[in-house]
Amino acid sequence: MAAQPENVIIVGGSLAGLFCGLVFKHLGHNVRIFERSPSALLQSQGAGIVFGPPAQEYFAKHVNVNHPLSITSYMRQTLDRSGHPINQDRRQQKMVSWDLLYFVMRACFDGLETTYCEVPPKNPRDGNAKYLYSRKVTNLTEKSDGLLQVEFEDQDGKNGVEVADMVLAADGPGSTIRELLLPEVKRKYAGYVAWRGTLLESEATQELKDTFVNNFTFFHGPGTQIVAYLIPGKNGSLDQDSRLINWVWYCNYDQNSQEYKDLMTDIDGHFHHFTLPIGKMKPNLWVQQKKHAINVLPPQFAKLVNDTEQAFVQVITDVMSPKVSFFDDRLHLIGDAIAGFRPHTVASTSQAAYDSLLLERMMKGEMTEKQMQGEMMRYARQVAEIGVQMGNRSQFESLKAAIQPNTMAL
Ligand SMILES: Cc1cc2nc3c(=O)[nH]c(=O)nc-3n(C[C@H](O)[C@H](O)[C@H](O)COP(=O)(O)OP(=O)(O)OC[C@H]3O[C@@H](n4cnc5c(N)ncnc54)[C@H](O)[C@@H]3O)c2cc1C
Ligand SMILES: *[C@@H]1O[C@H](CO)[C@@H](O)[C@H](O)[C@H]1NC(C)=O
Ligand SMILES: *[C@@H]1O[C@H](CO)[C@@H](O)[C@H](O)[C@H]1NC(C)=O
Ligand SMILES: *[C@@H]1O[C@H](CO)[C@@H](O)[C@H](O)[C@H]1NC(C)=O
Ligand SMILES: *[C@@H]1O[C@H](CO)[C@@H](O)[C@H](O)[C@H]1NC(C)=O
Ligand SMILES: *[C@@H]1O[C@H](CO)[C@@H](O)[C@H](O)[C@H]1NC(C)=O
Repeated sequence: MAAQPENVIIVGGSLAGLFCGLVFKHLGHNVRIFERSPSALLQSQGAGIVFGPPAQEYFAKHVNVNHPLSITSYMRQTLDRSGHPINQDRRQQKMVSWDLLYFVMRACFDGLETTYCEVPPKNPRDGNAKYLYSRKVTNLTEKSDGLLQVEFEDQDGKNGVEVADMVLAADGPGSTIRELLLPEVKRKYAGYVAWRGTLLESEATQELKDTFVNNFTFFHGPGTQIVAYLIPGKNGSLDQDSRLINWVWYCNYDQNSQEYKDLMTDIDGHFHHFTLPIGKMKPNLWVQQKKHAINVLPPQFAKLVNDTEQAFVQVITDVMSPKVSFFDDRLHLIGDAIAGFRPHTVASTSQAAYDSLLLERMMKGEMTEKQMQGEMMRYARQVAEIGVQMGNRSQFESLKAAIQPNTMAL
């Protein structure tokens, strides 16, 4: 491969794209991110992310902004149906929000100014970094001179073409690049969805604060599991009044059922395959789900769901690429494009950070190309397997077999 690619194109400008984009910028390469969205990605879902060790390592190494990122919980606990803790484990965990990580990364990568943080000063050794919106990549081919040609469609459906020495596909679990190269690899429905929402800490009752602040809290019931933890609020604020209590409630649905079709069809009649965005849910379904919460969840969780204004739904899927590198190692899949995990593993952001750190070591000659690929696949397979086990047990097996939260060590 070209050991020092001058021009790198990254397909997908979410966390994996930004993590490896910043690595390559710091190594002095010229990097362009092609993102299909027409503007900065803010689906204002403001939802939570667990800030795992690889992500912490990545931020310590590459991100120099004057803003605290995460909130710490001090205990993992499982509640019984009546709301009493049946299992408490003093273990710290750090949590952050997706939007805070995204905008901090934008400040570092291409100097985007927002209310989230200040833009750090430029380093003269850095390469150029550009974040280009409205570039939906549609094809990738190898040219006779060995360069990779990336084809894309802009907002008006016009086609464009650019070439690069190296391409990184960070285009998520439904990766277009992976689909072009390995069409046989498909996302598979896991049998359940996650209902997700947040409640402002300042709007929570004292009972809710007592339960959820400082704790990472679980409940397992037959065919259901819910988790709650605190995350930063608007503008990445960590102030007590601005923080959010974030919850993720897994519920089983038969994908062929009318109930499922109804759930994933929005107020405008559009059916969504993977995410029903916030603000698009039919109000009667949300009212019904809140009633369901009162019937099956411990009182604190039922109240948390009931007091949440809006929810969104994320369909849980599994997908795994059998390999990460193509075209004589000039194209690499990164992050969710390699493996889309079950959220129980809380490892998707960690995977994006881990893969980016591996790429950096490979580029610096600290590991070989083959070692890097092997390690990316080992991580992906190991976490995916744990995720399937955790999800299957909590959604489809008896309560006794429900996995203990303290095995979530990733
Ligand atoms: C808007 C948004 C909000 C999210 N919020 C959360 C959250 O609250 N909690 C959580 O745990 N995870 C969240 N995720 C997922 C999380 O970012 C990932 O699981 C993880 O960080 C690894 O990300 P990734 O960059 O590999 O994939 P993804 O985050 O899925 O990003 C893929 C990116 O590629 C772009 N893309 C896809 N196809 C093309 C194409 N053909 N051409 C150009 N661009 C393309 C997408 O628009 C997207 O920006 C969110 C993702 C997005 C995009
Ligand atoms: C991608 O480009 C190749 C080479 O031009 C072509 O054969 C192929 O059909 C294209 N694929 C798509 C999905 O457009
Ligand atoms: C949650 O955390 C607090 C400490 O912040 C603790 O006192 C409390 O017992 C924990 N659990 C519950 C169920 O309230
Ligand atoms: C976020 O920042 C903007 C701009 O400074 C401000 O108008 C807004 O009130 C802030 N929101 C919160 C919740 O702090
Ligand atoms: C749930 O919220 C509704 C209003 O949105 C309220 O009438 C009801 O009392 C709440 N139930 C509980 C258990 O808090
Ligand atoms: C998980 O569940 C799926 C679907 O029910 C099944 O195909 C798979 O074998 C299960 N895997 C494990 C590891 O339990």
